[in-house]
This record gives sequence, structure tokens and C-alpha cells, in this order.
Amino acid sequence: METNVQKRRDNKKSLRVKVISLGNAEVGKSCIIKRYCEKRFVPKYLATIGIDYGVTKVQVRDREIKVNIFDMAGHPFFYEVRNEFYKDSQGVVLVYDVGVRDSFSALDGWLGEMKQEMGSQANMDTIVFIVCANKVDLTKRRVVDEGEGRLWAESRGFHYFETSAQSGEGVTDMFQAFFSAITDMCENGGRRPAVSEVTAGFTKEQADTVRRIRNSKDSWDMLGVKPGATREEVNKAYRKLAVLLHPDKCVAPGSEDAFKAVVNARTSLLKNIK
Ligand code: GTP
Ligand code: MG
Repeated sequence: METNVQKRRDNKKSLRVKVISLGNAEVGKSCIIKRYCEKRFVPKYLATIGIDYGVTKVQVRDREIKVNIFDMAGHPFFYEVRNEFYKDSQGVVLVYDVGVRDSFSALDGWLGEMKQEMGSQANMDTIVFIVCANKVDLTKRRVVDEGEGRLWAESRGFHYFETSAQSGEGVTDMFQAFFSAITDMCENGGRRPAVSEVTAGFTKEQADTVRRIRNSKDSWDMLGVKPGATREEVNKAYRKLAVLLHPDKCVAPGSEDAFKAVVNARTSLLKNIK
């Protein structure tokens, strides 16, 4: 009798999960996993052929988690092998290289491929996503800054970490947060706690506005008015953005810089409007 109770208690404490790594070729997916599991770094690039599989055990609070890791190949050539493995994942590590903009822009495409392969029944809300901005050790070649990466991640309810498989920076913290969020989700009946609503504390409109301002081509575009707009139109557009992005009200990553850029854009436009 006692043994059965003990067994049931042990069962509750142990958990099996499946996680996958996604991202363009050469961004460092395999190296991040190797750094975490084997505490070492391999500088030579050995492309993953199709898929690599490994198992590791981790402890989260009073639970032992058996993690099945499917490390995907990023090269388009391996699509046919990769597409089998999306189903039944509880967690996804989405990786990009902070020195290669294309690898950051490709993240939407990776989510798209995943959704497509999981089919129309797929529920992305029951999966924990963590975004790794990798190779932060190579500071001189960095082209995607923290604000931009964090905004992309957190506005989707994903976690964001800066990592270096080379130095180890951020890797253990990232995996601990990842496994802890997966455990929370399993204990929460399979629903992912919404990072965007609970911890991010900013709206989609604020996130989209910061992104739009970052990508605007000139001051007119930044304020969202037509070239040649009147002072009144410029001021009206400015006020709307100022309310949305004011540092007292908006905590979206990059919003402070966006707010300053809007102030400067208005000043320079008003100088030239009679
Ligand atoms: P595929 O398997 O082809 O999809 O690539 P991958 O994303 O698994 O890349 P991999 O881990 O094999 O790393 C690619 C190259 O980047 C290797 O030469 C690594 O040594 C290097 N690399 C990975 N992470 C880092 C990092 O954090 N810093 C630096 N400097 N180099 C890294
Ligand atoms: Mg690899």
C-alpha cells in the first residue's frame, strides 16, 4: 500500500518533455545545446545533418524532468527530414545570430514552417518559446540590438535571452528559465502563462509602433504624416505617439529611444514648416 502511494508521488514528480531547436543554419543551435549539456564549445562548424537527438535530465523545484532534445538542422536542404519532428513539442528554442540580420528576419518564417507542419489543429499557446540572441561575444559584428530582439520576442509572449555558446554567457540561465516555464505550463494544465500579459506589461499597439518607428525612412514617415503636412497635423500625430510611447507609460523594449526619435522628428519638421 505504502509503496503504491510512494510510486504515485514519484510519478507526479517526474515529467517527460520534448523540446526542439529552430533557426537558420550556423546560428549556433547545436553549440548552445552542447554548451549546456557538455559544458564545452566547438569552434569548428559541423552542420547538423537532418536532426540530432539527445536526452538530458534536469531538476525543476521538486520535479525531475526528462528532456528529449531534437536539434534541428537549419539548412533548407533538410526540410524533408526536419518537418517530421515538430509535432508534440512542449518547448522551442528559437535561435538567431546577432551579427546576421537575415537570421533574425527568418524567425517569422521558422514559426510559419512549424505551424504549417503541425497542421490546423495546432495550438501554439501550449508551447513555451524562448528566443536566443546568440553570439553576443562577437560585439563588433553585432547588427541586431537587444531592444529589437526583445521586442520581437516579448510582443509574442516569448522569453528572450542573450547568449554566447562560446563564453557560456546566458546559456544556463536561458535553459533554467525554459525548463521552469515548461514545468509551470504542465502544472497549469498545458496552458502557457502569457508572458506578454503578465510580465511584459505593454500592448501590441505599443510594440508595433516602436517597430514602425525604428523602420521609418524619414521624419514624415516616423510621425505617420504625408510630406508637406501642416503644423497642426504634425502636432496632432506627435501627441498621439507621445501618449502611446511616453516613458512613464510604456515599458516596451526600445520605447525610450523611439520616444526620443519622435520628439526629434517633430522638432526638425516644425523648423521647416511655416
Ligand atoms: P546547423 O546545424 O547547420 O543548423 O547550424 P547550428 O545553428 O547548429 O550552428 P552550430 O551550433 O553548428 O554553430 C555554427 C558556427 O557558429 C560554429 O562554427 C560555431 O563554433 C559558431 N558559434 C556558435 N555559437 C557561437 C557563439 O556564441 N559565439 C561564437 N563566436 N561562435 C559561435
Ligand atoms: Mg546544428
